[in-house]
Amino acid sequence: MPLHVLQHPLAHHVLTHLRDKTTKPVLFRTLSYQISLLLALEATRDLATVEKEIETPLETMQGRVLAKPLVIVPILRAGLGMLQPFHDIFPDVSVGYVGLERDHKTAVARSYYCKLPPLAGARVLVVDPMLATGGSAAQALTLVKAQGATDVGFVCIVAAPEGVATVQQAHPEVPIHAGVVDRQLNANKYILPGLGDFGDRLYGT
Ligand code: PRP
Ligand code: URA
Repeated sequence: MPLHVLQHPLAHHVLTHLRDKTTKPVLFRTLSYQISLLLALEATRDLATVEKEIETPLETMQGRVLAKPLVIVPILRAGLGMLQPFHDIFPDVSVGYVGLERDHKTAVARSYYCKLPPLAGARVLVVDPMLATGGSAAQALTLVKAQGATDVGFVCIVAAPEGVATVQQAHPEVPIHAGVVDRQLNANKYILPGLGDFGDRLYGT
């Protein structure tokens, strides 16, 4: 499935401030909201709509409304920094949680929590700001598919080429929406140039 990368000038602006190591958590959270809002619009550009008849103050007309509910699945904990804009703009959203944490030495993600609502019939978007090795994203996508999700996308802010390749190999039908694709991973599996540890910068840890 295709990789979609944000092209909006505001995305470049916001990403530059997110990457800046002097940006404090309070601004970092606002910038995360802003870029996640742009990504939310892109990742839902193809959502189906159905006709709905309504009365305007002047006459009857056929409008269109969203046909499917949306389920957002943030990967804890950094994924929580992307959740709010989806809640703010979509009328029918439910939220599932997948807790994954990378081991500091091996960079392999360990699952510590999973609570998912019914997923069949919904557009399910797994959200996590950083797609590094792709191990966390691939695991989370496997979990949501095992729970019945059939219309699934993955949304991230910064992707590494290695992570994109991992997800595309493990889940070829899943579209990836990224704010940017960076150069590469370093020896510790952090993204270069990247923005550091997203969770730490979001929560000031
Ligand atoms: C970060 C990030 C992703 C993961 C990406 O989470 O938010 O979940 O690493 O790396 P990967 O593509 O190599 O799997 P981390 O494990 O640091 O946990 P946190 O969100 O609790 O900070
Ligand atoms: N997780 C992060 O938060 N940052 C990276 O660069 C890689 C994984």
